[in-house]
Amino acid sequence: MAILIAPSLLSSDFSRLGEETQALEKAGADWIHLDIMDSHFVPNLTFGPPVVQSLRPLSSLPFDAHLMAFRPENLIEPFVKAGVNYITFHLEASSQPKNLLKKIRGLNIKAGLAIKPKTPVESLFPFLEDLDLVLIMTVEPGRGGQTFLKEPAKKVKILRKKISSFKHPPLIEVDGGISPKTVQWIQGADILVSGNYIFKSGNYSTSISELKNSFEN
Ligand code: DX5
Ligand code: ZN
Repeated sequence: MAILIAPSLLSSDFSRLGEETQALEKAGADWIHLDIMDSHFVPNLTFGPPVVQSLRPLSSLPFDAHLMAFRPENLIEPFVKAGVNYITFHLEASSQPKNLLKKIRGLNIKAGLAIKPKTPVESLFPFLEDLDLVLIMTVEPGRGGQTFLKEPAKKVKILRKKISSFKHPPLIEVDGGISPKTVQWIQGADILVSGNYIFKSGNYSTSISELKNSFEN
């Protein structure tokens, strides 16, 4: 499967979220990555279900919600109602990840688990059968525009090997500091999240195709 690009709206112009979402779709984005921050799990505070609800009718792309929040169980229904297609929460923020993954899937939404750079990839292993997506963070969650971390990038290969025998393997998504220069360290991923590189490039379609081409070659 060709690599998918999921631009993160975190780096977009928040005064024009609707136009930005439409421009990304036109520019060839595959998914829209929504960074939901609660100012507790991470210091930053971004946007919630009402904003996502208002963006939903503007795009046919999958909405990929990345919950950087404590008590993610309180956020599932509101974001499902808002129209997201994927809900990924942090393993570090949930005491019952298995139940929460089941709850998300029970609502016919794809379920994902994210891990911070310092969390070992092995901590995901007990949950791999219960999820549709794994999100490997290659920056500390909370801000866009950070420097790519090579250490956590190594988790992609370990995970790819671990799920190679799965009949329905989860997708591997990588998030943080992604650019044509850093994609070499995350071969084996299925989806790349990118904020700063795409939004600072000045041309969304060029930067999206550059990410795809640099990853494939
Ligand atoms: C960080 C977010 C990432 C971030 C990616 O907490 O989860 O999605 O927005 O942005 P860049 O590509 O700028 O690192
Ligand atoms: Zn994210």
